[in-house]
Amino acid sequence: MQLTLILLLIVIFSGCENKTTNFKNIPNTQTENEKAKEIFTICQRCHGIKGEKSALNVSDIIAYYSKNDLIKALTLYKKSKRDRHRFGSLMTGIIRDLSKDDIRILADYISNFKTKN
Ligand code: HEC
Repeated sequence: MQLTLILLLIVIFSGCENKTTNFKNIPNTQTENEKAKEIFTICQRCHGIKGEKSALNVSDIIAYYSKNDLIKALTLYKKSKRDRHRFGSLMTGIIRDLSKDDIRILADYISNFKTKN
């Protein structure tokens, strides 16, 4: 009985994990990269041409973030749940209208900066 329950839980959890990793690991297509590039023009004003600046001298240098961390941070800003330097609401205002998909392609795009330098 207990064993069945444990096995069931393992199946459920591994299922969930696979879904999220797959979703996050898909690299951008050419079209998605072009879209991400266009969206990123909004960000360049504060974060630098290649995400190499500390925005308003407070943020981290986002070019060093992994794709995963970028998705996490942007999703939290979208939900008004991140505020590390008291500028969380500023980021929320900028990110709010972006879809989950926009965030995914943006994260992929930004996370590739460091390797392109
Ligand atoms: C008006 C300036 C400004 C613009 C434009 C802007 N940001 Fe930010 N960003 C900030 C500030 C300031 C912070 C720090 C927010 C806080 O207090 O948590 C930040 C934080 C971040 C972080 C987390 C870094 C950290 O230090 O926690 C990411 C990732 C990020 N921005 C991505 C973006 C993306 C992607 C865009 C474009 C869609 C964008 N930002 C546009 C100013 C800006």
